Amino acid sequence: MSDEVRPPRTAVVIPAAGRGVRLGPGAPKALRTLNGTPMLIHAVRAMAASRAVSLVVVVAPHDGAAEVKNLLDAHALPERTDYLVVPGGDTRQESVRLGLEALPEGITTVLVHDAARPLVPVDTVDAVIEAVRDGAVAVVPALPVADTVKEVEPAEKPGGPEQVVATPVRARLRAVQTPQGFDHDTLVNAHATIALTGEGATDDAGMVERLGAPVVVVPGHEEAFKVTRPLDLVLAEAVLARRRANDGF
Ligand code: C5P
Repeated sequence: MSDEVRPPRTAVVIPAAGRGVRLGPGAPKALRTLNGTPMLIHAVRAMAASRAVSLVVVVAPHDGAAEVKNLLDAHALPERTDYLVVPGGDTRQESVRLGLEALPEGITTVLVHDAARPLVPVDTVDAVIEAVRDGAVAVVPALPVADTVKEVEPAEKPGGPEQVVATPVRARLRAVQTPQGFDHDTLVNAHATIALTGEGATDDAGMVERLGAPVVVVPGHEEAFKVTRPLDLVLAEAVLARRRANDGF
């Protein structure tokens, strides 16, 4: 089959190898439960809810790949979607690269989705995929910011006063979410080109920007928030409770 007639194939890489220290002590963040189901399973289901997604690659904590594989096998997931589990790295950037290396031939669109955003609605996932299929090489769902944001010179000791460097115009700022969507070759090229420095990139679209490629923003969703701090767990369970109540009517 030539490239022209081959249908586009979309895969999702889910980096889920983080410890989640800001959430407090306990299991790796992706394995913490929301209403009794691990956050990672919610995230995988959120991706598999899109009919366009044919493969989900989960990047597990490097000593937890077997446990994550068992977890996926134990939960009902849509028949049409394949799953792979690979061990992750020390940084998110490395974990995503390891996930990309596990992709089979023929994938044209890649989404990268944080396991820590378990509740993103399928409409947001589909909007990102559609924008890539319409020709964008990198697509980021994002929301306007509610707070005014200051850029500071970080204090030497935590909690100390910090010098303000700049106050960007709030109306021009967006808080970015995942899934971020990419033309496969563009993202692979970014990960091959940009060396890991310090804690590595926290955002794949930022890596594509550094290559000089255009990145576009599409509307994100308030339910695509990242579960980072203990209060986020309370909010996530409230969202699930609201969904259940709405499904009941
Ligand atoms: O730490 P943070 O919330 O930015 O992590 C975002 C996502 O990256 C999480 O889903 C986390 O599991 C993942 N991650 C990873 N490998 C690491 C660090 C973070 O897959 N070494």
